[in-house]
Amino acid sequence: MLCKQSLVTLLGGLALTFAQTSSEQYPSQAEIEAAQASVLPHSPVSNVRGLAFNRFVNIWLENTDFEAAANDPHLSKLAKKGLLLTNYFAVTHPSEPNYCAAAGGDTFGMDNDDFLQVPANVSTIADMFDVKNIAWGEYQEHLPYPGYQGFRYPESGPNDYVRKHNPSILYDSVTQDATRLRQIKNFTTFYDDLKHHRLPQYSFVTPNMTNDAHDTNITFAGAWSYKFLAELLENEYFTKDTLILLTFDENDTYEIGNNIYSILLGGAVPKHLIGKKDDTFYTHYSIIASLSANWGLPSLGRWDCGANILSFLAEKIGYVNYEVDTSNMNLNETYPGPLSSGDISTFTPNWPAPLTRGACSAGHGILKVVQNTWKHLAATYNYTSPVPYDAASGYNVGVKYHRKLGRGRVESHITK
Ligand SMILES: *[C@@H]1O[C@H](CO)[C@@H](O)[C@H](O)[C@H]1NC(C)=O
Ligand SMILES: *[C@@H]1O[C@H](CO)[C@@H](O)[C@H](O)[C@H]1NC(C)=O
Ligand SMILES: *[C@@H]1O[C@H](CO)[C@@H](O)[C@H](O)[C@H]1NC(C)=O
Ligand SMILES: *[C@@H]1O[C@H](CO)[C@@H](O)[C@H](O)[C@H]1NC(C)=O
Ligand SMILES: *[C@@H]1O[C@H](CO)[C@@H](O)[C@H](O)[C@H]1NC(C)=O
Ligand SMILES: *[C@@H]1O[C@H](CO)[C@@H](O)[C@H](O)[C@H]1NC(C)=O
Ligand SMILES: *[C@@H]1O[C@H](CO)[C@@H](O)[C@H](O)[C@H]1NC(C)=O
Repeated sequence: MLCKQSLVTLLGGLALTFAQTSSEQYPSQAEIEAAQASVLPHSPVSNVRGLAFNRFVNIWLENTDFEAAANDPHLSKLAKKGLLLTNYFAVTHPSEPNYCAAAGGDTFGMDNDDFLQVPANVSTIADMFDVKNIAWGEYQEHLPYPGYQGFRYPESGPNDYVRKHNPSILYDSVTQDATRLRQIKNFTTFYDDLKHHRLPQYSFVTPNMTNDAHDTNITFAGAWSYKFLAELLENEYFTKDTLILLTFDENDTYEIGNNIYSILLGGAVPKHLIGKKDDTFYTHYSIIASLSANWGLPSLGRWDCGANILSFLAEKIGYVNYEVDTSNMNLNETYPGPLSSGDISTFTPNWPAPLTRGACSAGHGILKVVQNTWKHLAATYNYTSPVPYDAASGYNVGVKYHRKLGRGRVESHITK
């Protein structure tokens, strides 16, 4: 899908006009230079205590099958320092919809890595954090200046920074806000924020296409991860009460499920879980649900609403996670939607309506802004399910899940 409309974005008082002719949009060289000279990174600081952690750092590597990651010596060394999540799933292929899911709780049918934008009436975790003024940020390696919106950087040559690996930049509700844009920073600013003790309470970290295994392999990315994290784990300011997730956007073999190797690290991992495994079913949506549970924040009303919560946190809030029979589950693709590249004439590509009522797994209801914007519409999907599915297109129907509610009571479901 090409975004042909003219795109004018205010960025720190600077108007950037993207080329309209191709799906890959870029500011001009002059605009890049002007922004580099004038747009300053924004690093707000907050200290809202959470139930299980006071800071969450979400680090994503690329395209690696579970077994390949498990066999990497550096990653297994890291796993021994934390908690290995053995049953964590990416939500589709290829990359971009997974990153999109991490910020907004849905793929919107995206099945490609194109220059796509999600309209401003769709909320993200930025809106969620605003409820309690929890500072968030992104650290995208080699982003040329805060909030850069081009398709990649540099525009040619080997892949370095790419927009498709940047969750927040896909959302107009972020890019139309000059302050939010300035919270999307690079690794130079990460080390600056670390040094000055102004890291945000939530951050998303994207190494470049060399370091994240995309253009290299897991041996390279494992070594990079170990080097990046070993030093940080020794840093008391960084690691105290911090939960780090090291995971992948997706696994490498499209024809099979999408189980990805994921490790929780940092000072917030309970001591008795270090070096252990957790086989609870999780997806990328579980992270948004866990952020809600940790800080008492309302849900986006999308797939985060029914997602399982990190088990040691779920225990603290008395939430019972679902056990999912994944044998029949195809999280290697998604349902049709407004961001699908296929023939959209066969269905109505409306922007899916979120749920606007209900408690959600974290128990804090749904964001006010989501309610106000969407309450006149019925939710498009059954977002209370821990497994994304779409009855209309038959996507992921017939997946069984259940939970044990105590005193022998078992609650069983099948997606239909
Ligand atoms: C990172 O961002 C800073 C602050 O905006 C900028 O000065 C610097 O040139 C950028 N560094 C890289 C490597 O892109
Ligand atoms: C990716 O970043 C590393 C530094 O972390 C750098 O050495 C490498 O050249 C970068 N890759 C590309 C293709 O620019
Ligand atoms: C990754 O590439 C390096 C260099 O080509 C090679 O030595 C290594 O064996 C590769 N790792 C895997 C898991 O294939
Ligand atoms: C997803 O997995 C199913 C079952 O193995 C397979 O039939 C389907 O072709 C896969 N989809 C993609 C996009 O690879
Ligand atoms: C990709 O995920 C599926 C589970 O969904 C898993 O069976 C498979 O082993 C993973 N790929 C590999 C080769 O590790
Ligand atoms: C959300 O925005 C899209 C794109 O502008 C529009 O088509 C849709 O009607 C809007 N939905 C609501 C509920 O505002
Ligand atoms: C939606 O999911 C919930 C939670 O798993 C389940 O209780 C409910 O029956 C589902 N609703 C429909 C209409 O299938």
